Amino acid sequence: MSIIILAIESSCDDTSAAVSKDAKILANVIAGQKVHELWGGVVPELASRAHQQNIVPVVDLAIQQAGISRDEISAVAFTRGPGLIGSLLVGVSFAKAFALAKNLPLIEVNHMQAHIVSHFIDSNPSFPFLCLTVSGGHTQIVLVKNFLEMEVIGETLDDAAGEAFDKSAKLLGLPYPGGPLIDKYSKQGNATKFLFPEPQIKDFDFSFSGVKTSILYFLQKETKKNPDFIKENLYDLCASIQKTIVDILLKKLAKAAKKLEIKEIALAGGVSANSELRTRFEELGKKNSWATYIPKFEYCTDNAAMIAIAAHYKFLNKEFSNQQAEPLARYHL
Ligand code: KG4
Ligand code: ZN
Repeated sequence: MSIIILAIESSCDDTSAAVSKDAKILANVIAGQKVHELWGGVVPELASRAHQQNIVPVVDLAIQQAGISRDEISAVAFTRGPGLIGSLLVGVSFAKAFALAKNLPLIEVNHMQAHIVSHFIDSNPSFPFLCLTVSGGHTQIVLVKNFLEMEVIGETLDDAAGEAFDKSAKLLGLPYPGGPLIDKYSKQGNATKFLFPEPQIKDFDFSFSGVKTSILYFLQKETKKNPDFIKENLYDLCASIQKTIVDILLKKLAKAAKKLEIKEIALAGGVSANSELRTRFEELGKKNSWATYIPKFEYCTDNAAMIAIAAHYKFLNKEFSNQQAEPLARYHL
């Protein structure tokens, strides 16, 4: 019999529902939330309310697009964490209610684990592989031993890579989320025009708060001399900031791959949508004879398809949750 999973993702500001059948994605519906743009960042209370409004239509549409009936579903999966507690609560409560109504088993999924397992939607890295997971809330280098067993070997001590993009963008006066805009404007800029210092952090850990501070001080100094400095240099500033962040990420990844002698290397998480990171990751892979993996664009940022795939392997392993499950804002791999 086929395994059909209905998966719900609501950890941050995207409400998403997906349906998978035997690990193939039949539907992946994502409703973004424009309401945060005004505020320069995700407002947790507004995110929870938007999830409440979106969740029923998003799930309905996913089931409709998948062309399945509710009675065919084998299990309901949900993101248990990490994420914003109010946002998670909406998805967890909906999944529990749906499972109760249809008498279905529940499967809880760790959002970061799901970002990593998203590789198996369209490709098939062999174990063990290394995954650089870069999102708005996390930056980790993970040793992936199998679908369910993963070890974090390096992570950020302060801001995440996505936060570094978004906070730098905010300093440049760009709206939230600034990461994709920095990516876009960088294409027309000179990445070596401005140099920002790279932090010296031990082993495979990262730090981005120093980079942000040096950008802030640099902009303060230059705009004092020329109030139009940002406007006149926007593209070069974006390209230089992007290069600094990508340099930091790829240096650590290369160091980890060398030390662990692993040549199967993957990228995951929202920041892996960044075009410079994707291109330079592939170049680095060629230079080091790595087999490289990057999820398709739509599976890089938050989506429920990755929750469905992670849940599929948990289903096979008979790892079920129950009606007592609560969301977890912090949830380690
Ligand atoms: O994984 P994700 O969708 O949500 C979290 O789990 O955090 O990642 C969102 C992050 C945001 O910080 C966003 O600015 C960043 O990914 N991002 C990008 C790009 N697309 C999304 N950063 C740089 N370049 C991009 N093209
Ligand atoms: Zn994410």
